[in-house]
Amino acid sequence: MVAPKMAAGTAKLLFFHNIGGHRAVMNLTASRRALSLALGIDEKVMVKTLADAKFNGKIVEDGTLAMTKPDLNSLPIMHHFPKDAGRYITSGIVFSSWDGVENASIHRMQVLDDHRVAARLVEGRHTHVMVKKAIAKGEKLPVAVTIGTHPAVTFASCTRVPAGMELAYAAELMGGMLNVKRCSNGVLVPDAEIVLEGYITAELTEEGPFVDITGTYDPVRMQHIIEFTGMYTKPDFIYHGILPGGDEHKVLMGCPYEPKIYKAVAGVTEVRNVVLTKGGCGYLHAVIQIKKSTQGDAKNAIMAAFAAHTSLKHVVVVDEDIDPEDPHDVEYAVATRVSGDRDVMVITGVRGSSLDPCQLEDGTNVKIGVDATMVLGREADFLRATW
Ligand SMILES: Cc1cc2nc3c(=O)[nH]c(=O)nc-3n(C[C@H](O)[C@H](O)[C@H](O)COP(=O)(O)O)c2cc1C
Repeated sequence: MVAPKMAAGTAKLLFFHNIGGHRAVMNLTASRRALSLALGIDEKVMVKTLADAKFNGKIVEDGTLAMTKPDLNSLPIMHHFPKDAGRYITSGIVFSSWDGVENASIHRMQVLDDHRVAARLVEGRHTHVMVKKAIAKGEKLPVAVTIGTHPAVTFASCTRVPAGMELAYAAELMGGMLNVKRCSNGVLVPDAEIVLEGYITAELTEEGPFVDITGTYDPVRMQHIIEFTGMYTKPDFIYHGILPGGDEHKVLMGCPYEPKIYKAVAGVTEVRNVVLTKGGCGYLHAVIQIKKSTQGDAKNAIMAAFAAHTSLKHVVVVDEDIDPEDPHDVEYAVATRVSGDRDVMVITGVRGSSLDPCQLEDGTNVKIGVDATMVLGREADFLRATW
């Protein structure tokens, strides 16, 4: 059977006026352009500008949030694909607080009943680490989940910043300051349409199957249950849904890694731009544009990129005259500037993305780096004719 493909092109912003009496939005930052507008940074210099982040914005506490009894049935939580295990929250940012550290990251949450969800906490991510610490002390991890959060805060929460720096980074992206309110369990949250507060418990339950960025199904796993004890909603709130495997998911997963790769590559050569491509699920493929000054630069750039983003699978390095956002231009560089025996690096037995269906049973994968740059000193043979 041929599965219907998701539409090509840029996903349009969707606004739902009435889903069971509530409003909802999707595709808020479903393109680099939309993200750059939301962050107030020129798209052309977005990666370079974000690479200079200091994570030093000011967080201002300005009051508490009054909570009511949680009722997940009163929210327009979506069911996205026919074979999904059920309804799940896809844009919820989990703010957690442990040992004076405040973390924020998106985790999908499967609705179990009117006040409980199963949260997918990838092993090693900060929320998972904090839950394990709380459980080791016989406690539950206090959390607050925001839905309908400013895209700059969402972007900060998707960025792998040093532990506890997400709010400061969000404040920096918001112009230097971020107001937050304290929930009754002590967790700080920024302005949001919906806030759910509660605790991640030691109790596990089956989570999934759900679709992930590759558009394929992530398997069922035993995951922690979050018990909500309070809920806050703005009057006539707007629910935010992120389509799993859709453009917004790819932008929010991939774009935060581009500045990280940019910085790493800047350590080995002159880097111009980094793009995690849409065809590569916004996560597995990078095109890196460099200004080469020695013949080995592209291969060093490839190694730096793999080290900076361990889920990366394939990297193509191009020259300054190739637009890394244009797949045809990148393919042109591969077609005219690559000699397979000299320019392709194959690295076996390395850790890759757990989301990649090619991943081997032992968790390793194969990575390929392609040097699609001109041979230094022979530029005249490669440059395209101009008018
Ligand atoms: C739409 C979306 C959904 C995500 N879902 C999950 C998820 O279910 N579980 C998870 O561990 N990470 C998920 N992530 C990735 C994390 O939010 C992201 O890697 C985050 O930066 C991790 O934060 P940390 O550095 O504090 O661990 C998702 C990201 C996006 C953009």
